[in-house]
Amino acid sequence: MRAADFADRVVRWQAAHGRNDLPWSGTRDPYRVWLSEIMLQQTQVATVLDYYPRFLARFPDVRALARAPLSEVLGLWSGLGYYARARNLHRCAQELVERQGGTFPRSALELAKLPGIGRSTAAAIAAFCSGERVAILDANVRRVLTRVLGFGADLAVIAHERQLWEQAEELLPTADLARAMPRYTQGLMDLGATVCLAGNPDCAHCPLADVCVAYRQGRVRDYPVRTRKLQRRSENWWLLLCVDDAGRCWLAQRPARGIWGGLQCPPVFASRRALDAALPHGAAQVREWPAFTHVLTHRDLLLHPMLVRTAQAPADVPGAWHAAGAWRSLGLPAPVRKWLEAVDSAGRG
Ligand code: ADE
Repeated sequence: MRAADFADRVVRWQAAHGRNDLPWSGTRDPYRVWLSEIMLQQTQVATVLDYYPRFLARFPDVRALARAPLSEVLGLWSGLGYYARARNLHRCAQELVERQGGTFPRSALELAKLPGIGRSTAAAIAAFCSGERVAILDANVRRVLTRVLGFGADLAVIAHERQLWEQAEELLPTADLARAMPRYTQGLMDLGATVCLAGNPDCAHCPLADVCVAYRQGRVRDYPVRTRKLQRRSENWWLLLCVDDAGRCWLAQRPARGIWGGLQCPPVFASRRALDAALPHGAAQVREWPAFTHVLTHRDLLLHPMLVRTAQAPADVPGAWHAAGAWRSLGLPAPVRKWLEAVDSAGRG
């Protein structure tokens, strides 16, 4: 099939069956497109629908975002996960204001130099806002293209990944780019998210089924090929929550890099013994909450929440007292927020 026919089918399918009613659909405002693309990385549309309007209401433009303290940005991000996105978002806004007068560069090449904007996200922004003829290749689009092309080379090999990028570029629309590129880009994303699913592809409703090599082979689920699997590790974390009689709690900011980077959290220990060593003198007994697993991309965290009623800070642990209920407006990891809510309602109940 000619590349032009391929692009044309994706464009027409998007107009008729794609998702065109999302809050960021159809906008060419780079701030809004950028924010939606960052939020949509590794996150379901349904979840983003909840966060996006709140974030925009508080930070209506890049200057408002750049001015805000990071803690407030993290607070509004709380529960979305992958907090490096929020830190990069904030840093990117500050760079844009300081160096470019608060305006986004137009080309994908320039956009990809900014913090937190990878090649595919840069291409999506440039295609949506300027109709630039550039390819995207996020996980959903990779699935669509490897299947349609019958691209069976191992994507764990960088050279193969590069070949797929080249083929993605050859398939791009060639005419009427200002109109076609946004639709085409969104069309590939929508196909990957609603039709060309990883486990349960709906080939009966796919506009590309009759030209899809994987479909013809009867091997749709065999694509994409990637041999190197993410290595998962598990870790045990003991969390010490000190709460005094006034309901104040002791929280510390996590190191900027790594898990829950920059978020507020009760002190974390690698063993129960280490936690016991940090218990404030004269602390009443430790209340153990049920341990639970929190799944991250590369790691399973087995969390052991421990609660102590005390007016004293834990020994040799950085942090600060926060007034009763003040944690609600802080950037907290989602499982910590849940735990604090449970502690709160147990205290009241
Ligand atoms: N995932 C990443 N970008 C997206 C977009 N623009 N629409 C829907 N899902 C997406």
